[in-house]
Amino acid sequence: MRLDKFLANMGVGTRTEVKQLLKKKQVTLNDNVETSPKKQLDPNIDVVKVNQTHIHYIDKVYLMLNKPKGYISATEDDHQQTVIDLVDEYRYLNVFPVGRLDKDTEGLLLITNDGQFNHELMSPTKHVPKTYEVISKKNITKNDINAFKVGIELNEGLAKPAELVKSDEMYKSFVTIHEGRYHQVKRMFHAINNEVLELKRLSIGDLHLDLTLAPGEYRQLNEQDFKSLGLK
Ligand code: URA
Repeated sequence: MRLDKFLANMGVGTRTEVKQLLKKKQVTLNDNVETSPKKQLDPNIDVVKVNQTHIHYIDKVYLMLNKPKGYISATEDDHQQTVIDLVDEYRYLNVFPVGRLDKDTEGLLLITNDGQFNHELMSPTKHVPKTYEVISKKNITKNDINAFKVGIELNEGLAKPAELVKSDEMYKSFVTIHEGRYHQVKRMFHAINNEVLELKRLSIGDLHLDLTLAPGEYRQLNEQDFKSLGLK
């Protein structure tokens, strides 16, 4: 792996910032000053230090992406852009999306290469709640809220009770579901004779979409984020 890529992936700085550090002779490779961003290294063997601090290689990656519309939740596709195209610098670590958002759904999507992490959040037995902002064709009613609370009948069976909350804005509501069936929110709205026009995931468990991330932007999860997910 290239030295600049290694440093950027380990969160030392952007590729440009990393180049500056190298130029200023602040980086050593096996205790020798290294200035070339192109220098190749083996992250499992070589020792990289920035200002004497050892930069440990982590092989597990956890990213929060603000998914824009127009990207499919898959790792590769011959015809369509995938969410992994948005985090291309991590592709070599075999990252994949944690669960799926539809192509036209936006918002919080986690990306990792840790299968156990994926299981903890997506396993149907864990019931991790996911909250979405919905713009629908019609305003929701008290009956709709009650129907969601009781459980909406979908063609493969009754959906678990979900919380539907009306917002102050016309046609906008928030729905929290405790499972992750295919097109679940859209199908639940369809079942109450309504239609989802816009869908955005705001949270998974207590982890909220970082509002400083513009659509298409991402960042690494931090310790607080793991706590919010009830992990670590
Ligand atoms: N429910 C849907 O219908 N679509 C999504 O992308 C997520 C939940």
